[in-house]
Amino acid sequence: MSQQIYPVPARAKEQSHLTPQDYARMYAQSVEDPETFWAEQAKSLDWVTAPTKIKNTSFDAHNVSIKWFEDGELNVTYNCIDRHLATRGHVTAFIWEGDDPHSHDIITYHRLHDEVAKIANGLRKLGVGKGDRVAIYMPMIPQAVYAMLACARIGAVHTVIFGGFSPNAIADRVNNCQAKVLMTADEGLRAGKQIPLKANVDSALAEHDCPSMEHVVVYKHTGNDVDWGKNDVCWDELTAQCSTDCPPEVMNAEDPLFILYTSGSTGQPKGVVHTTGGYLLWASITHKYVFDYKPGDIYWCAADVGWVTGHSYIVYGPLANGATSVMFEGVPTYPDVRRIGQIVDKHKVNILYTAPTAIRALMAHGDFPVEGISGESLRLLGSVGEPINPEAWHWYYTTVGQSRCPVVDTWWQTETGGAMITPLPSVTAMKPGAASHPFFGVQPALVDGQGNELHGATDGNLIITDSWPGQARTVYGDHERFVQTYFTTYPGTYCTGDGARRDEDDYFWITGRVDDVLNVSGHRLGTAEIESALVSHHAVAEAAVVGYPHDLKGQGIYVYIMANEGVEVNEELTKEVSNWVRKELSPIATPDLIQWSSGLPKTRSGKIMRRILRKIAANEYEQLGDTSTLADPGVVDTLIEQRLNR
Ligand code: WTA
Repeated sequence: MSQQIYPVPARAKEQSHLTPQDYARMYAQSVEDPETFWAEQAKSLDWVTAPTKIKNTSFDAHNVSIKWFEDGELNVTYNCIDRHLATRGHVTAFIWEGDDPHSHDIITYHRLHDEVAKIANGLRKLGVGKGDRVAIYMPMIPQAVYAMLACARIGAVHTVIFGGFSPNAIADRVNNCQAKVLMTADEGLRAGKQIPLKANVDSALAEHDCPSMEHVVVYKHTGNDVDWGKNDVCWDELTAQCSTDCPPEVMNAEDPLFILYTSGSTGQPKGVVHTTGGYLLWASITHKYVFDYKPGDIYWCAADVGWVTGHSYIVYGPLANGATSVMFEGVPTYPDVRRIGQIVDKHKVNILYTAPTAIRALMAHGDFPVEGISGESLRLLGSVGEPINPEAWHWYYTTVGQSRCPVVDTWWQTETGGAMITPLPSVTAMKPGAASHPFFGVQPALVDGQGNELHGATDGNLIITDSWPGQARTVYGDHERFVQTYFTTYPGTYCTGDGARRDEDDYFWITGRVDDVLNVSGHRLGTAEIESALVSHHAVAEAAVVGYPHDLKGQGIYVYIMANEGVEVNEELTKEVSNWVRKELSPIATPDLIQWSSGLPKTRSGKIMRRILRKIAANEYEQLGDTSTLADPGVVDTLIEQRLNR
């Protein structure tokens, strides 16, 4: 753990929203008198009916109920678009940069309004209304944002499915939330390659029963040929006759805005539900303070709208603040590893927000990623998605940020709606690798395995003791699962599933998941999902998946497999199984290492001891812990021997 401290850079203090004194005062009020604090902050949104009831929340496992601003009414897109039009309609909302370095587009707030209104009217024509679910499976093009906002305009609930997911994952999500329309594109483009989005949707709907699905709206992005079925609707034809006037639906603050599926330690991904008022306030206020965003700044969040980072920090937060964002279709390494720097220079980016995995991938090329790059427009850097190792932090700070830009290492989760523990650029002296201090209203604590609160400098399980406006409200269709997952481990508190260390200066350092969730290149994956894809292959009798340290990905996917009897295990089969997971789930879930074995370490009651498998995968054989409870302790020696012989 690096204990080097970097003071707030001089330039970050000038003209910033907050001084350290402001933060201390506002934080104290936010936790001591949340009603007054959040009533005041909520005035930054435009309400149809201003809320009079501010906070009504309970973490009691018998009655988990989270409501903020419950009598308020508003529309998210009015806040993200319409309210900017009178004075700032000509301002750029998005600078879209295509995969091909020669393609880009400018979307002003006026244009955003018209595009969103047209497709929102198009959805209404298809019979979509308030409360209906709409799935969105799109590449990183402006139409993905139009689609999300069109849903919010008419009160429909979107669920964005990451463009890297396979047909099975699409069908599971569509069926779980009973989506009646799916919006997609013919193809995506990444690093010059076509991604067959429409074909994936076709397979999802052909190979699975999706009775709720009525129409697939297809945007022609590459224009290449795709199959058109009788329920497919061409985006341009649908919107051709649609008006640019689409009155926003008035929504209650607690009406759902979106569902986003995320992996947990057990079972299939959960549909995390975010609602309208609290989420929008959280996304916008964190965007404003964490990035010290001011009008005129060019801001670039290099995430994908398929993940929560894209929802909060490409779409809802920046737009509510009237920001100008770069939206990037491609990947950091195409045409070569200078692409990020080139985009920064081309669009004069001031604020860059990306993930440690991207930083590590570039860093592996030394100074080449910044060769010929000025980078002088940058004034702030952000990191999200996984712990940033100090080496990557330093490279980011010195090579990209030229030692003058604060780095905000933002810790948060799909369930939290936005940043929770993070440095503030004009407030926090930085320690490389520390997420540092809680944002307004966030009350973190550390507990031991029994739930006893730990004080002072210590390691522990990270919990949050009271609600904040951006918190997820439930798991779609399964409130009991929401309660079980987050509120029963340490009753009366929100359990994050992360471990953390608090140091002597009260800085929090996130150490990673303490459950069976993997973080592979910043992508959250459940071991249970990967295992279920594996056992659906005919050669696999049983499988156990664990994470292990991986230089570039942060965590790699290590797979232990027991083959079915009579199956001949060879390299070809290993490849086949690996491809199977890619196809069943997603290329991001591709195993890094597969170890075939004749047995798995199990307790006498048949539970796989993952703790031991994790140690073996990480090549740590000294502290295997107690193996005496294993049904067959000999299995461990065999596994170690096989691992060493790899
Ligand atoms: C991890 C992404 C350390 C963490 C926004 C969390 C981090 C999970 C950080 C959520 C960070 C995210 N430092 N770890 N700055 N940010 N994580 O839901 O384990 O995709 O629980 O949300 O990512 O991943 P999710």
